[in-house]
This record gives sequence, C-alpha cells and structure tokens, in this order.
Amino acid sequence: MSVTQTAARPIGRPAQNFLSRPKHLFINGRWQPAVSGKTLEVQDPATGDTIAHVSAGDRADVDLAVKAAREALENGPWSRITPSERGKIIWRIGDLISQHADELAQIESLDNGKPFAVARFGDVALAADMFQYMAGWATKKHGTTIPISVIYQQGAKFHSYTVPEPVGVVGQIIPWNFPLLMAAWKLAPALAMGCTIVLKPAEETPLSALRLGELLAEAGLPPGVANIITGNGETAGAALAAHPGVDKIAFTGSTEVGRSIVRAAAGDMKRVSLELGGKSPNIVLADADLEAAIPGAANAIFFNHGQACAAGSRLYADRRVFDQVAEGVARYAEKIKLGSGLDPNTEMGPLVSQAQHERVCGYLESGRQEGARALVGGEALPGPGYFVRPTVLVDTQPSMKVVREEVFGPVVTVMPFDGLDEDIVKQANESIYGLAAGIWTRDISKAHLLASRLKAGSVWINCYGVFDAALPFGGYKQSGWGREMGEAVLANYTEIKAVTIQLA
Ligand code: NAI
Ligand code: MG
Repeated sequence: MSVTQTAARPIGRPAQNFLSRPKHLFINGRWQPAVSGKTLEVQDPATGDTIAHVSAGDRADVDLAVKAAREALENGPWSRITPSERGKIIWRIGDLISQHADELAQIESLDNGKPFAVARFGDVALAADMFQYMAGWATKKHGTTIPISVIYQQGAKFHSYTVPEPVGVVGQIIPWNFPLLMAAWKLAPALAMGCTIVLKPAEETPLSALRLGELLAEAGLPPGVANIITGNGETAGAALAAHPGVDKIAFTGSTEVGRSIVRAAAGDMKRVSLELGGKSPNIVLADADLEAAIPGAANAIFFNHGQACAAGSRLYADRRVFDQVAEGVARYAEKIKLGSGLDPNTEMGPLVSQAQHERVCGYLESGRQEGARALVGGEALPGPGYFVRPTVLVDTQPSMKVVREEVFGPVVTVMPFDGLDEDIVKQANESIYGLAAGIWTRDISKAHLLASRLKAGSVWINCYGVFDAALPFGGYKQSGWGREMGEAVLANYTEIKAVTIQLA
C-alpha cells in the first residue's frame, strides 16, 4: 500500500473563488476581521501546505457576536418572525447547500482530507437533509394543554398549558471530523426553535462553515441570527463557553474539553448539551453472515479514517469465527487506497492534522509496547501529509490503552469471546463511553436481547453507522449529555413554560 502519487483532481472555479476571497468573522450579517487583526493558517492535511488564512477570533469578537445574537433574539426580526417563515428560510438553506454541493464537498475534502465522494454524498447531502428535516419542526413543535387535579379552594378551576420557548442565545462549538455536517446538526434545530447562535468551527477545518455563512445570508436569515467566529478552542471557544450573555452551550468534541465546558458553564448555570467521545463495541456472533459482517466491521472503523465518535473501534468476534473475522478485516484494510481526498482513486485520506497524526501514532506505539500484534498496518506513512495505515490489532487485553481509550484513527482491536451472552455483554459495556454499538447475527432474538443489554445511545444490527436526520443520536455515560437530531434534539434548544389560569 502506498499513497497514490497521481495528481489530485483540480477543484472547480466556485471553490477556487471561495478560497481566494478573504475569510473574516460573520457578525451581525457582516464579514469583519478579528478585533486583534490576527489570523490562523488553514492546512491541506494531504500535503501540509497552507491553503487559506482565517480570522483568529477571540474574546472581543465573541462579545460582539453574542451582543448581535442577543439583539436579534430580543428585538430583531427573529423575535417577530412566524414559525412558517422561519421554516421556509431553514428549508432554503438546505436547498442552497444542495445547489452548491460540489463546491462545498471540494472545500471539505481539501480542508479535512476526506475523499470528495464521501464529502459530496455523505457530509454535504446529510447537511442539506438536516436543514430540511428541521425546517418542518419550526411549525410542528408545540405545547400541550394539561388537566390538573390540585385543589386550592372549593370550586377553583384551572386551565393549564405549556409553551416551548427558544432557550435563547446559543453558543455552538463543533469539531473537525464532519465540519459542515456538525454545523448543520447544531444550527438547524436551534434555528427551528427560534434561538440565535454564535457558532465556533474547529480551528483545523473552518472553511465550509464560512461558505455556509454566505449561504445563510443568501437564504434570507436576518443579521445577527447566526454568527460565525473562527478561532482557537482555548481562546474563542473558552470565551464563548464562559460568556454571561450565552444561555446555552452545545458542544461536540473531546470528553476532556466537554468537562472544561461544564466547568465554564457552572458559574451561571448555562444549559449544556455534549456529544463526546466513544469506544464503541461491534459484536460478531458465530451465526452472523460473515460476507456482510466483515466489510461492515471494516467500514465501521475505517470510515472517515476512524475519525468518527461512533467508530466501531472495539471489534468482538465469537471465538469460532474469530480468525475468519480478524483476517477478513485485515485483508480489507490492506486493499484500501490512501491518497489526497481530491484524487478520485482515493478510498482513505490523511488524518486531519499533525497533532492527530502524532496522537494516533502514539497509540500504535503504546499498543506495540503492551503486546498487541498488528495483522496489518501499525505504522504511519512517510510524509508529506498525515497518513496512517489502516491497522488491525490482535492479542490485545482489556487493560490496554489502545482498547480502553478513544484513538480517533484507523485502528481497530479484535478480541474473541466465548459465545456466553453475559461474557460479551460485560466486555462490550466495559467502557467509560456509551455512544454506539453494532451486532451482527442471523438470530433475531439474540439481536434484540443484546440490543437491550448494551449501554449505548445507538445500536446497529446487521449494519453500522446508519445516520438519519430523524434518528436521535447521543451517548450514555461519558459520551455526553442529550441527543442530536430527530425530535429529541429540540429539547436542547427549548425551555418549557407551564402557564396556569384560574377560571373560577
Ligand atoms: P477538541 O475537543 O479540543 O476540539 C473540538 C472543538 O472544541 C474545537 O472547535 C475546538 O476549538 C474546541 N475547543 C478546544 N478547547 C476548548 C476549550 N477549552 N473551550 C472551548 N472550546 C474548546 O478536540 P481535538 O483536540 O481536536 O481532538 C482530540 C480528541 O478529541 C480526538 O483525538 C478525539 O478523540 C476527540 N474528538 C472527538 C470528537 C467527536 O466527534 N466526539 C470530535 C473531535 C475530537
Ligand atoms: Mg483539543
């Protein structure tokens, strides 16, 4: 296996035009440089070359953005807009994403490293879908009337109802693994519920969010409703999490930063929702259709180069099929073509950054030292670019770091179990995380029984990583608080008011 040396397909004129425009902060409907005048470099992870500079927003810029969001919420057109008009704007955002799908996918592929086709038919398509699914909730989320039984005084009668209200000004901090899609997961439901927003994209991949900002304006979103502050996590992100003008923080990223957000939000009791890490078990029973389970298990870990919170990074196979499964996944891994995301032959791109490359290589080294054996991979490729070979590790123990911790790279551990339901349930649940799980079996009873025993927010049976705007997604345990997507996410962006009237 080697990195393909063929030239990457040149990107189209719209993406080139976007790259050549200056990249500022989006505050109150205007594009403006950071107050400090500072900028950040953006890299192509396939080469390490600088492809753009964006403004390095900081506390002062976050402050301006929060003020704009507050004004739009309390006094601006957003406070007076009907749910139907709101829904139409959100729908138009989805339409515009679809109209500019190739351009957005090229920007995403260049910035993040993922293959263009994955960006185009995965990230961008799902982002458009997310806006159009959430557009419907703008007119459909409503309260209820509730019969109450309390006796205050003889003959008193009450009428009670609830009203969902926007939670307020929302700070949203998103990661680099699905940059545009994570912006959509966050923005769409918050807009549908009538909130206003300050979004902070990841410093590694700020570009698609900035292009999205232009599309938000084109769709008719009033100034100040959604503001975009590019910048570092420790500065811009931390300032947003601690800002007293922010009512709620929605975060996706590492469990470690999730903890620091909870601490920052504790001062004024901001609402917090968190979508954090995972170390998800993927379980192959002896009766599984291995022709589906083996490529399924390979995709569960290698999709997005393992940089997915729900990656099936702990593969468990019944001892009777263990060798077949481990070797099958290794053979699959061996054939994956690595290269620039813009090269049409590429099946797996580079990791997103030098820091992630070092992190993943550190886990490969720790696995080696603790006695794990690589059936395939186990090493990085020489530069340029941040490539790591797809890796299948066996001879692992539950105590090893590489089994316990989130690697966030193309590295899977394969472990046997002995057909005992209790044994596999215990192993699968032995994690601080509880984001997702996979089960491969032809036995429908075993499938449902196992699904009920696994502590995970998503369980996929005879498939893996199936996401839909209508399906809630989020974690048990240290994988987070709350759910993204589906009707469930609306709770992240509403306060419920109960109104009671005495009638007689
Ligand atoms: P990170 O958690 O530092 O970054 C995610 C977002 O948080 C970025 O926008 C970043 O700017 C922001 N951020 C960082 N520090 C902050 C702070 N103190 N206050 C407010 N915002 C802050 O993740 P990082 O360092 O890029 O990756 C480290 C590990 O985190 C990965 O190897 C992976 O294990 C995990 N991760 C999980 C993700 C998920 O989807 N659940 C996504 C990205 C990373
Ligand atoms: Mg970090």
